[in-house]
Amino acid sequence: MDFQALQAARESCRVYSSKPVSRETLTHLVDVARLSPSGCNAQPWRFIIVDEPEAREKLIDAFDDDGLTGCPWGENVPAFILICEDEARLMPRVGERYGTQHFAQMDIGMAAMALCYEATALGLGTCIIGTMSQEKLHHSFGIPPERPVRLIITVGYPAAAGKPRTKARKSLEDILRYNHW
Ligand SMILES: Cc1cc2nc3c(=O)[nH]c(=O)nc-3n(C[C@H](O)[C@H](O)[C@H](O)COP(=O)(O)O)c2cc1C
Repeated sequence: MDFQALQAARESCRVYSSKPVSRETLTHLVDVARLSPSGCNAQPWRFIIVDEPEAREKLIDAFDDDGLTGCPWGENVPAFILICEDEARLMPRVGERYGTQHFAQMDIGMAAMALCYEATALGLGTCIIGTMSQEKLHHSFGIPPERPVRLIITVGYPAAAGKPRTKARKSLEDILRYNHW
């Protein structure tokens, strides 16, 4: 599948079959994601794979952030990959001057995207989740308080294979300009 076809095929999957995803495959996804670029090559990420029943239950509970949840369908997800923001060792002058650019969060977004594309290429479904209770996650998974979980990727085999949905996107006219705002 060329990249454009992969881009068209990837979509958020929220309904999964009960088929488990092997640890070999889950590890492979992270192995691909870790090749992503990052500011100053700082690689400010740590991935935690959650695939055991007890850990899954804790994670599903941690999506409930005081009544708000981005993953009410978590029970049907075979595996989750948490991407935590680790320390970013930027070159000192870059860090001082461009700290407000928050490279680490961009880096994590790119790693997440690479992971999702590789999953799509392997016939897996994914959904990126950005809302969760940091407090519950830190408590349940032993994550140090200074290491936020930025994204959680749900991973599994889609319950129904079919044509990808039509993508709801802004038009090129809306988002593209040449040489001025
Ligand atoms: C940073 C980020 C956070 C997201 N958080 C959630 C979420 O909490 N719950 C959810 O169901 N989908 C979440 N999504 C998925 C988006 O809703 C989805 O990517 C978007 O609607 C476009 O649809 P598509 O992925 O099917 O192309 C998130 C996506 C991103 C990139």
